[in-house]
Amino acid sequence: MKSIYKLLIIFLLSSTVLFNSCSEDDPIVTPIEGDLVAEFGLETLPDIPYPPDNQYNPDRIELGRLLFYDPILSAEKASTCGTCHHPGLGFADGRKLPAGVGNSLEIGPKRQLGVSKTTLLPIGDVPRNSPTVFNTAFNLDSTGKLTPFGVMFWDGRARGLEDQAVKPPTSREEMKGDLHSPNNVLTFLCSSMDKVPEYMRLFKKAFPEEAKEYEERGDEFMVTKKMLGKALAAFQRELVTRNSAYDRFVMGDKDALTDNQKKGLRLFFTKAKCNTCHNGPNFSDYKFVVQGVPQIGPGKKLLAGEDFGREEFTQQVSGRFAFRTPTLRNVSLTAPYMHDGVLETLEDVVQFYNNASRPRHPKVTDDMLHPVLRDPLGLTDEEVDQLVDFMKALEDNGSLLDPKLMEIPDKVPSGLPPLNGAVFNK
Ligand code: HEC
Ligand code: HEC
Repeated sequence: MKSIYKLLIIFLLSSTVLFNSCSEDDPIVTPIEGDLVAEFGLETLPDIPYPPDNQYNPDRIELGRLLFYDPILSAEKASTCGTCHHPGLGFADGRKLPAGVGNSLEIGPKRQLGVSKTTLLPIGDVPRNSPTVFNTAFNLDSTGKLTPFGVMFWDGRARGLEDQAVKPPTSREEMKGDLHSPNNVLTFLCSSMDKVPEYMRLFKKAFPEEAKEYEERGDEFMVTKKMLGKALAAFQRELVTRNSAYDRFVMGDKDALTDNQKKGLRLFFTKAKCNTCHNGPNFSDYKFVVQGVPQIGPGKKLLAGEDFGREEFTQQVSGRFAFRTPTLRNVSLTAPYMHDGVLETLEDVVQFYNNASRPRHPKVTDDMLHPVLRDPLGLTDEEVDQLVDFMKALEDNGSLLDPKLMEIPDKVPSGLPPLNGAVFNK
């Protein structure tokens, strides 16, 4: 009797195993969901960190928004911040490499390179791909902490949005052209704003303490580089996106992600090892990594046609070809990809990792790569698709923001056409 029972039990057990292994859709057998939130410590975005001297201030935010689209910040009146960080393009520009100064009335891939109005010399591509300014409030600082002084740019050469915002107007290719030198252009731009009564009114309103100091000294109010940086930073700091499918999933809506996206999420944190670098609520550790991405375009300053990445700023060979890990929030809105836009699609990016960083920069050998990137991942086409699908779940085009923050103003205080009259045609 006993042995008959034993046989029966063995039969029942093995048939369950057989039966289950055939029904792949059964959630008990392949637990794609489980408690993914607890298992991988998934997080939503924290509160915005504000610097002590640039706290939340609606007047400053609105002033920053107007400045963002006003060609007055371009010495040759040829571009605006919004030319390369356009709300219709995920606050990036949809190009491999940006075209800044020029007389083109297009935004996005159709924009043409041009010549300087001052010298008539040609102005080339900006050497690096435009990153989104969405969620830059959460860029971590160089110690990996969330502070208002996060690492900015692909090589980390600016700290915090205030510091960053006054750099593009000094760049020949991005905004300046050949009028004024990088060292004196900001003084010129501030004095141009001093001559616009509407800017005087708006700056005084946005900077009441500074206005009072001028008054007490008996001096006439003047726009400074500091105020300019603070206003532009105040606007950009509000551009946070908390309503992606991923965020809704983490907050408890278990149906916010499709099954394919849940599988992609699991791969992201396990087999594909993406979370080694793309981690935390903004999907980046903000560290500098050698990935061996092939180089296209004019390159940065140290060697023509080449971009040494972190080394361009630190001048230390140890940073050669290292670029800062970018956020993956809204990455589906900002193709093409990488510091030089060399990869066209998210599939191309995942295949790059799947093939142990190939196509590879010819000067980057295996031992120079970050250790996690040296071996092929062995992802099937289906798994590649799942990872891509998961990244799409990080998209939220500002759906919870005050709609005004996503709007391009009809007019700007200088009276010049917003965005220099350029439009984005899909
Ligand atoms: C011609 C295109 C262009 C214009 C105009 C431009 N940018 Fe950018 N922006 C870029 C590129 C390219 C980068 C990356 C450059 C690098 O890393 O070296 C960048 C980087 C940034 C970053 C850093 C994002 C991050 O996560 O590191 C911020 C913030 C930013 N720009 C804001 C602005 C503001 C504010 C203005 C106007 C004052 C402006 N940009 C004008 C192309 C442009
Ligand atoms: C070792 C760190 C590291 C790992 C692991 C890693 N990444 Fe990256 N990722 C980076 C860095 C650094 C860049 C920018 C490199 C460059 O531009 O030269 C980047 C760029 C990207 C970009 C382009 C973003 C943009 O705005 O241009 C995407 C998409 C991306 N990674 C997704 C992934 C996925 C998916 C995985 C897993 C299969 C992964 N990454 C694994 C560090 C990493």
